[in-house]
Amino acid sequence: MDSFLIKGGVPLHGEVTISGSKNAALPIMAATLLTDEPCIVRRVPDLSDTRFMVKILESLGATVKFENGTLTVHAKKIKGYADYDLVRKMRGSICIMGPLLGRLRQARVSLPGGCIIGARPINLHLKGFEALGAKIKIESGYIDATAKKLAGNSLFLGGRAGPTVLGTANVMMAAALADGVTIIESAACEPEVVDLANFLNAMGANIAGVGSPTITITGVKKLHGAEHEVIPDRIETATFMVAAGATNGEITIKGGRADHLRAVIDKLKEAGVSVERSGANMIVRRSGTLKPVDVTTLPYSGFPTDVQAQMMSLLALAKGISIITERIFESRFMHVSELARLGADIEIEGPSAIIKGGKPLSGAPVMASDLRASAALVIAGLAAKGSTQVNRIYHLDRGYEQMDVKLRKLGARIQRVEEK
Ligand code: EPZ
Repeated sequence: MDSFLIKGGVPLHGEVTISGSKNAALPIMAATLLTDEPCIVRRVPDLSDTRFMVKILESLGATVKFENGTLTVHAKKIKGYADYDLVRKMRGSICIMGPLLGRLRQARVSLPGGCIIGARPINLHLKGFEALGAKIKIESGYIDATAKKLAGNSLFLGGRAGPTVLGTANVMMAAALADGVTIIESAACEPEVVDLANFLNAMGANIAGVGSPTITITGVKKLHGAEHEVIPDRIETATFMVAAGATNGEITIKGGRADHLRAVIDKLKEAGVSVERSGANMIVRRSGTLKPVDVTTLPYSGFPTDVQAQMMSLLALAKGISIITERIFESRFMHVSELARLGADIEIEGPSAIIKGGKPLSGAPVMASDLRASAALVIAGLAAKGSTQVNRIYHLDRGYEQMDVKLRKLGARIQRVEEK
């Protein structure tokens, strides 16, 4: 298993270009199953998660080409069940259910595993499919969804932590080919859901209200092929913003979308990291000493849970007490114990982490546990004195395109160490 070897203490300087959004690309890749015509999707990030989704599409019978960020998918004829192991290994692949149900009125996938950040239930996805008329059966680790008719309906999709991003995506994709109108209340408003709806509408779907908590989908008989460019990855953008602040550097971010990051930019400003627009770019630098702040993760447009771990690394450097409260997932603090190895002083109290910031961080070997926790450890390693080895970096490769290459271009002393 590869690891990153980082020699910290170097302020980041220079330009970084943001890749396409992993969390927009995955449901959009699934949406290509909704038509028997070819689709072209551009700015797809080359990640282990997107390559995995290519395998899943091929296992369903689609012909897929993925080169230099451009994906061509032709799902001329597909089957309604996905390889058990493939779906089980990547949670994001649950979003093939909606398209299979929409196109074939039948879907059979393995129950997606939970993961280290929480149980990751799919009860809301299934509630949405049933509202459209699907019969759901769960046995021997598979979910079987079948629908003689898929009829539009009004449904409330909010759960214990508010809206569901992939649940909204899944129901929207099934409803696109249902008979009649579907109204989803408490729909997710994330930019990735908006991007998916834009792709579906380009395919001939009729979706309105996306980006708001109420989405209206008027089913159509058939969808045609379309071309689309995926939005930039707002979580990667935020990760580099935090890294610039943590290393007291100054970077120019190209290709990011400030309008997708208002909560993060606002919180960074409060913590002493400024983000200024310069044309289409953003310039990020410290605006003085780092200050302690309180952060609560919320559904969009609140502070994103996917930036919580990275923010914790920054606040470990800000003298004073900061409190981070995680409201979306039940156990997304795996990075706390690893940050402690670098000298961070953080205590967990229920859904909150209390950070006694300002103690100097010093390098040590640490273990990545999930995608965003890995990013937090890299950021802390960049800011710490001495060397940090971040092990199990495959977690990071799931969601960041060439992070080590991009960081080296910004002056970081970071090497990928390939395990023999
Ligand atoms: C998406 O996951 C993202 N993944 C996650 O990013 C992100 O953290 C999450 O949305 C929240 O923003 C992709 O888009 C591939 P949810 P998703 O359904 O859709 C509960 C990353 O690091 N819930 O919005 O699976 C759930 O337990 C990843 O890139 C139910 O209770 O998340 C959680 O508490 C991590 N029942 C909350 O809702 C359901 O049926 C939000 O989950 C579904 C979800």
